[in-house]
Amino acid sequence: MVREGRDPCRGICTNGSFPFLQGRQGGLFLLLLLQLLLVQLLHPASRALGVPDMIYDSVPDVCATCHVHATCQQRDGKEICICNYGFVGNGRTQCHDKDECQFGANVVCGNKASCHNTLGGFYCICLEGYRATNNNKTFIPNDGTFCTDLDECEIPDICGPGGQCMNIPGGYECYCKDGYLPSNGTQPFHDIRDGTSCTAVDCGILPSFPNASPTLMNNTTYGSQVVYKCWKGFVPDGHSPVVFCNAQGQWEGPSLMCREIECGSPPVIQHAILMGNYSSKLGSRVYYTCTDGFESTGGDITSLCTEEGTWRINTFHCTEKKALITNVSVFNNTCVKWRVNSGRVDLKMVYLIHIQGQQQNQKEFVHEDLLNLTTSSQEPEVCLYLHQGSNYTVDIRMTFPKFSVPVTVKIQTADDDRSFDVSVVNETCLKWKRNPGDTAEKQIYQFQVWGQRWYQSNFYHETSFNFSTKERFPEVCLDLYPRTYYTVNITTMEFPKHWAHVIIATSRSGNQIISNISVLNETCLRWRRNAKMTDSEEMYLFHIWGYRGYQEEFDQEVSFNLTTGDLAPEVCLELYPGTNYTVNITAASYGLPVLVFLMTQITEPPIPDIKFIAVQGGPLPPLSLWKAEDRNGPISSYQVLVLPLILQSKFPCDSIQDTTFFSSDSNTKGYVAAEFLAKDIPEVRELSLGDRLYYGKFYNAPLKPKNDYCIILRVTSEWNQVRRQSCVVWAEVKDSSLTFSQLLGVGLGTVAAVVILVLLSFSVVWSR
Ligand SMILES: *[C@@H]1O[C@H](CO)[C@@H](O)[C@H](O)[C@H]1NC(C)=O
Ligand SMILES: *[C@@H]1O[C@H](CO)[C@@H](O)[C@H](O)[C@H]1NC(C)=O
Ligand SMILES: *[C@@H]1O[C@H](CO)[C@@H](O)[C@H](O)[C@H]1NC(C)=O
Ligand SMILES: *[C@@H]1O[C@H](CO)[C@@H](O)[C@H](O)[C@H]1NC(C)=O
Ligand SMILES: *[C@@H]1O[C@H](CO)[C@@H](O)[C@H](O)[C@H]1NC(C)=O
Ligand SMILES: *[C@@H]1O[C@H](CO)[C@@H](O)[C@H](O)[C@H]1NC(C)=O
Ligand SMILES: *[C@@H]1O[C@H](CO)[C@@H](O)[C@H](O)[C@H]1NC(C)=O
Repeated sequence: MVREGRDPCRGICTNGSFPFLQGRQGGLFLLLLLQLLLVQLLHPASRALGVPDMIYDSVPDVCATCHVHATCQQRDGKEICICNYGFVGNGRTQCHDKDECQFGANVVCGNKASCHNTLGGFYCICLEGYRATNNNKTFIPNDGTFCTDLDECEIPDICGPGGQCMNIPGGYECYCKDGYLPSNGTQPFHDIRDGTSCTAVDCGILPSFPNASPTLMNNTTYGSQVVYKCWKGFVPDGHSPVVFCNAQGQWEGPSLMCREIECGSPPVIQHAILMGNYSSKLGSRVYYTCTDGFESTGGDITSLCTEEGTWRINTFHCTEKKALITNVSVFNNTCVKWRVNSGRVDLKMVYLIHIQGQQQNQKEFVHEDLLNLTTSSQEPEVCLYLHQGSNYTVDIRMTFPKFSVPVTVKIQTADDDRSFDVSVVNETCLKWKRNPGDTAEKQIYQFQVWGQRWYQSNFYHETSFNFSTKERFPEVCLDLYPRTYYTVNITTMEFPKHWAHVIIATSRSGNQIISNISVLNETCLRWRRNAKMTDSEEMYLFHIWGYRGYQEEFDQEVSFNLTTGDLAPEVCLELYPGTNYTVNITAASYGLPVLVFLMTQITEPPIPDIKFIAVQGGPLPPLSLWKAEDRNGPISSYQVLVLPLILQSKFPCDSIQDTTFFSSDSNTKGYVAAEFLAKDIPEVRELSLGDRLYYGKFYNAPLKPKNDYCIILRVTSEWNQVRRQSCVVWAEVKDSSLTFSQLLGVGLGTVAAVVILVLLSFSVVWSR
């Protein structure tokens, strides 16, 4: 501290702030100063130490004697020389520099600083790695400045990219970040001192994946990223194709799978087929073509296996070809032909042809017709019957197997009428007049004859021939079938052609076709066919009724027809037995019927429902019978026959017709025990054999004990003097026994039997 001018505080100044009394070192410094002061006050010799001499200063111009490093000051009315601040001495002869640093840098400048003495002062400099808190290079600690650690790490880029700075007192250390290593030496290091820096680790050679290649890359050091691309024709299978170089110097990333592109089966297109060979690999191309009868309506005919592993969406489309009638042309005046493109070859194609004709200069249609043409030709032709001198519009359209757009053709028929009139004589003869312009001596006419029958769909008569004549009025008689509808076309052979179109409906045959009809073997009929023309078939219509005099509810009526070309046809009918039939046969071409009566004989009646019973040594339970049907004739009666068992196998059903129990040989041949007339009995009839009653004229005698019998049921059918019977074994009785009731009635029964016997013999005589 330097003070100018006179200071009332001379020598010792306590009221001002003493520069050294601040800071940490203040206390110590004060002590030293006090000590110094005491030494100077108590000891005169202390002058030599530069303490101002106040006692001996009595020279009037003291100020002029002051040392160059001293200042003259007024104190207590006296002028004294006092050494300037930083100097010590007596102020006149002596003011030498005070070395503030002598107590040590620590004491004067504080820690981590060096002390530098100057003439009359000093300054401090922070040691390396430290800085003054006032941020100046030098400082004087009287303002509180001291040295503090310098944070070098705050300096940007202190140890380069990849490095990490760590501050330590008085300096810093370098470390490398993850993925970096010192270029030489170990960690920690000092970048400048050790001359090293952090460099990124290098992962080196890239990993290889099948069917994939890495894309271009700059380096292989830490943090580098390499993208892999599957080869052409391959696609990544899920994982992202990227690897990274990690801090450990290894390539890291999912393992990459590149699989070959596989498009699978090409898409199916309706009504189209695939052409040639193809694969399902990338770039494979398939070609489509429509199947038969279908055509493409546009779209790409190919499909490609794309990088997406799918077939490119195909717009190819096949639709059914429409039948197309083309190239319609008229020829020979009234004939039309065309071509058809139906897409496929069909066996049968049906056309509907609509004809509309107008007389020239007239509005209304005078001729309209609709006809069907069935053909398998791809180039059909049809000749139409058209009126002369008319304008025709002919529409042709296909109706089967598919429809077509109708095509129209105009036909104008020749004005000069080249048709000629033909008259029909005697139903089958044609007569006409030759054309006056026809000068040839001999004219040839072509005849085409078609015959059909409305009532006989399979009948078809067709004939054609040429007829040449010199006559002016030619006449031709045709062999035509009766009851037939004929179309006759006559055309001249020569040009210009003339024609005639005649329709003849023949009447029924003059004679009955069926002659000499006879019945064979009850149900068969044979006749002769009485026809002029025998090269065609005749149709016979049968109508049959059956009736039975004995069975009102019986009703059989059958109709059928038979077509045959046979001259002596024979037909066997399926008829019921025991029936009268009326057969009405009509030959279609004659139309009037022939009636035949047939009578079938009755046959054996059906066996009624019975329950077979076998008894040994005991009584026979009641027997029951259910009535049989009048199927083969009327059932007249049921008889119960009792035979010795030994006769069972060789017994003729029609024997012992009227044999009663009382006949002489009834014991050996058997007898009739009961007879029921069919009309008298209910649906079910029970009978106790041996009940000693009369059934009809027959006595139901008890069976003789200890004998073996066979009981037979005989059903008889009788009609028209014909008798048929069926027999069935009803019961077998071995070692027969009498029942108690039978034993009781024996005596009475015997008497009755005798009476009846007489009566019976009488009645037999009477009835004969
Ligand atoms: C730093 O030093 C300059 C010149 O040496 C001085 O002007 C300034 O006041 C000093 N700053 C402090 C904070 O001491
Ligand atoms: C149809 O007629 C055209 C010309 O009229 C012709 O070129 C073509 O060959 C004909 N087509 C057939 C199949 O006859
Ligand atoms: C058309 O007339 C010509 C010449 O007479 C003949 O040869 C040909 O057969 C006729 N065609 C038809 C389909 O009648
Ligand atoms: C043509 O044939 C069809 C089918 O067979 C039939 O339905 C139609 O009535 C016929 N038309 C004529 C005009 O014969
Ligand atoms: C008809 O009876 C005769 C004998 O009379 C026989 O030869 C012929 O085969 C029988 N015909 C039929 C169809 O039963
Ligand atoms: C069949 O007719 C004849 C004669 O008319 C007649 O006697 C007979 O009873 C009839 N037959 C039947 C089963 O009706
Ligand atoms: C015979 O049959 C024809 C046709 O089936 C019928 O018209 C005719 O009336 C019948 N005749 C008799 C007598 O039943």
